[in-house]
Amino acid sequence: MLSFQGENILSVNQLDREAIEHIFAVAKQMEPYAKKHKRTRVLEGAILANLFFEPSTRTRVSFGTAFNLLGGIVRETTGMQSSALAKGESLYDTARVISAYADAVAMRHPDAGSVSEFATGSDVPVINGGDGPNEHPTQALLDLLTIDRELGRFERGIDGMHIALVGDLKYGRTVHSLSKLLCHYKDIRFSMVAPDGLQMPDYILDSVSNAGHKIEIVSKMEGNLAADIVYQTRIQEERFPSQEEANKYRGGFRISQAIYNAHCKPNSVLMHPLPRDSRSDANELDNDLNNNDNLAIFRQVQNGVLIRMALFALTLGVENQITKYEADVPWFSRKRNS
Ligand code: NCD
Repeated sequence: MLSFQGENILSVNQLDREAIEHIFAVAKQMEPYAKKHKRTRVLEGAILANLFFEPSTRTRVSFGTAFNLLGGIVRETTGMQSSALAKGESLYDTARVISAYADAVAMRHPDAGSVSEFATGSDVPVINGGDGPNEHPTQALLDLLTIDRELGRFERGIDGMHIALVGDLKYGRTVHSLSKLLCHYKDIRFSMVAPDGLQMPDYILDSVSNAGHKIEIVSKMEGNLAADIVYQTRIQEERFPSQEEANKYRGGFRISQAIYNAHCKPNSVLMHPLPRDSRSDANELDNDLNNNDNLAIFRQVQNGVLIRMALFALTLGVENQITKYEADVPWFSRKRNS
């Protein structure tokens, strides 16, 4: 199993089933702190450099929040233009500089392989927050934790489940990383539901079938959504060669309550990494699903904080000291009716 302390988390390829389960166990211990029942100062004085060179709201804020919840400080840069990379600095040099200031780095960048390249120059652990169309390991872990918890409600597990991955499987890095993680489990049925031009890359399909899973490659939703987990994705417009090319797929696959009733199972769990594209000509996951109990998208967000807290605790070697630095929470931040 990966030893975690002092390691980068760049790809799900670093994780075996034991490592995944260890992360989940540490994530579970983070729950009282994420829910503000207690707080901990275990990372007091530690600094996270949160470097986001590509658009992000939830992943960026989730990494920052996770570090703050452990008592650490967050320094953040957003966008390429406001960074020295725009002056031609190499990722290696930026890493040498940043890791002289920080104790950990979370990074997102539009190029595949860029976060690994950065990590070669960093003296502190680097966690990949998404490198172009390549990988998004923390999202995959939070998705897997969500699947485990959602199926757990029906006393079912990940082994033996049926998952439908829907939408842009070509450019969607979250479905790439999730599929690879699922290779550590048994007897899964995958429905890859995507237009012909946006199907899952062959190297992922090969890994999934080598793991002994069953794969159906299909190009329409009808008849293919009766799965335990239905994981919808956004068309990754920013990764297409041109906007015209992306427009061809916009709004092609939409799930609404009516589609859910007609094609899903009674308790199919609906997931999406977010953001869902809510523009009327896209709208891949309709707002009319917001009161559907099986819509797990906001539970995914909560699980993301737990996973990122766990990864910071593990890579900085404090996972066994959380309670030692514990304190009470004297404030109330929830509104009266929530
Ligand atoms: C995803 C991403 O950035 O890959 N979002 C996320 O991190 N939650 C998916 C997307 O942007 O569509």
